[in-house]
Amino acid sequence: MKSQPRIFSGIQPSGNLHIGNYLGAIKQWIDLQQTYETIFCVVDLHAITVPQDPDELRRRTIEIAKIYLAAGIDPNRSTLFVQSHVHEHAELGWILNTIARMGDLEKMTQFKDKIGIKVSHLGEIARNWSEDISKTKEDILNEIWNNDSRKIETAGVGLFDYPVLMAADILLYDIAAVPVGDDQVQHVELARTLARRFNKRFGETFIVPEAKVQKEGARIMGLDNPMKKMSKSASSEYNYIALMDDPEAAKKKIMKAVTDSGSEILYADDKPALKNLINIYSLLGALSTEEVVARYAGKGYVDFKRDLAEVVARFLVGFQEKFRAISDDEALRILHDGARKAREMASRKMREVREKVGFVSEMD
Ligand code: TYM
Repeated sequence: MKSQPRIFSGIQPSGNLHIGNYLGAIKQWIDLQQTYETIFCVVDLHAITVPQDPDELRRRTIEIAKIYLAAGIDPNRSTLFVQSHVHEHAELGWILNTIARMGDLEKMTQFKDKIGIKVSHLGEIARNWSEDISKTKEDILNEIWNNDSRKIETAGVGLFDYPVLMAADILLYDIAAVPVGDDQVQHVELARTLARRFNKRFGETFIVPEAKVQKEGARIMGLDNPMKKMSKSASSEYNYIALMDDPEAAKKKIMKAVTDSGSEILYADDKPALKNLINIYSLLGALSTEEVVARYAGKGYVDFKRDLAEVVARFLVGFQEKFRAISDDEALRILHDGARKAREMASRKMREVREKVGFVSEMD
């Protein structure tokens, strides 16, 4: 039998998984099981780059595995495992650290976002200026620079280095593609850079994989602010619909979601809130965005939101029913089987990597 190309992806067991994670990542994984050999991971080593309560981390790790299964990841088709169970991830991460450059990582927007420094300071400079015109441009830049430096000094090294470990995840399994949401594309680019750099220095070792991003679910925006992506770490629970949200509470969140000015249901870039809600409707309701728009011609926001709330609640009820039917023991058994399969693949690759780098091989 001809072997299928492989894909790999993962989610961190931190915060509440939301419909953005589902629509941007997990939903496409389900379909990809038909055409690819699929490997999915719960990336606990990544989760500890920010402080985690140990018991909570353990609980969430199993919860994510159950979410994968309830969403439709089939353990007979896919390899499902926990990152820390396969030590090769950390080992390759270390080796890749030795070829990654500070400059590669300094470019990463997610790191800046997580420690709270702006990618572009233009807005801040303009605001500062308008608030106090006696300041010179140099004063303002110095203030911003000092502020950013303080944040960088106290940021965790693991958080900074996070994309290198992600590159190790991606490169260990000779995969063709990485199905992710839009926010992870820059990290996949880094994995590609490191693969090419390693191959150039040590000879052909790693396949250079592609990021695989869906058109509509790639960036689900916050319900309370359509200019920022829906996020597990958002300060308000009105930002997201968690997969484990009570369906009635989720309906209320939809009814409270921010909308744009106007009254027509239009799918357009200058109506970002509506566009986001239409995307969610389309993906969860199995309709095209055009069909959603056509259905609400001549109707207003209230009708649209009430129906969307129903679509979301129906999805959650079905999903949570499947989630509850899976026991922790069953999930753990699947994760242990998955780790065994993943370890086999990863250890083969690491043998090659150690040899290329020049490590003396262990006695069998
Ligand atoms: P994480 O845990 O933040 O997110 C998991 C997946 O969900 C996607 N996603 C979204 N998609 C659409 N709209 C949103 N608002 C939204 N928010 C999140 C993410 O793009 C991601 O696909 N670094 C990764 C985890 C990781 C990984 C890997 C992924 C570690 N190693 C190797 C792929 C391959 C992360 O933090 O994802």
